Amino acid sequence: MKSEILSALRSANEYVSGQELCEKLGVSRTAVWKGVQKLKEEGYTIKAVPNKGYCLMESPDVLNEQELKNFLQTAWIGKRVVYYEVTDSTNIQAKCLAEEGALHGTLVVAGRQEAGKGRRGRSWESPEKDGIFMTVLLRPDFEPQKASMLTIIAALAVTKALRTMFELSAEIKWPNDIILKNKKVCGILTELSTEIDAINYVVVGIGINVSNRKFEEEVALTATSIVIESGKQVHRAKLIDAVWRQFEYYYERFCAEKNLSGFIEEYNGFLVNKDKQVRILDPQNPFAGVARGINETGELIVETEDGIRPVSSGEVSVRGIYGYV
Ligand code: BTN
Repeated sequence: MKSEILSALRSANEYVSGQELCEKLGVSRTAVWKGVQKLKEEGYTIKAVPNKGYCLMESPDVLNEQELKNFLQTAWIGKRVVYYEVTDSTNIQAKCLAEEGALHGTLVVAGRQEAGKGRRGRSWESPEKDGIFMTVLLRPDFEPQKASMLTIIAALAVTKALRTMFELSAEIKWPNDIILKNKKVCGILTELSTEIDAINYVVVGIGINVSNRKFEEEVALTATSIVIESGKQVHRAKLIDAVWRQFEYYYERFCAEKNLSGFIEEYNGFLVNKDKQVRILDPQNPFAGVARGINETGELIVETEDGIRPVSSGEVSVRGIYGYV
């Protein structure tokens, strides 16, 4: 009953009389009143005014399939949403769904992950309610070599969403970290399944630290959250919507232009190490230089004493000369 009342109030977007709700839902006034009380207990702010009825003023930060569907205003991402209160990893689940034939744009979201995966075999801390853990399944028709550019697109999308929603100076640490005040707030993990020379599917997983106040020891000095940096309350479903709407915008431009040329300048404007000394931690061949920005294929251009070296993401990691950034 409560979810029907919620949908009716949400779609009305103004006062709905108790009588109207009773007729619409085919229940008694007491049942409507009880449903409204339950919603209030869950944190929804519902104003009740005599002779006018009920009006939904504010929704709490609740994450479930219904809330996601209510807030997603994307064109094609999340037409199918799969929500888990707890799962191993949204990337793992998205890959399973892909193997079962799930469609391009399927969105997997979890309230908590028990085996959240980071890049280069690391784990991703995924405590309940503190973060956003989500993965989109894509079936693009471009060549496998271009798949890493989806990380660039995702990084831009998260950066733009954080800047627009919270007025935060989010920056990008190439290739897959989003930074607030020199600390990591978000990581991206793109995984690929290919046929001989075509992409079978790609999953792009995004983990955002939302309201974490503390982090595990190994990342305590380099991690932060939106709440720490902005002091603002975060409505996760709204942020998820903002991220994927931005992603759709950049993804569609990328597919039309077939490379990143349309937004290199914008990306480089957000690049935290631009024109700074960096160390490229390539297991085979580490080196140092000055990061000059990305090129149209998403490689990081590094100026070294021996000349310009384009670096492709792969297993490489970038560090500032004095620390993480
Ligand atoms: C990194 O910075 O190393 C990448 C972290 C990616 C974490 C996200 S959380 C949602 C998705 N599911 C996972 O298991 N990993 C990604």
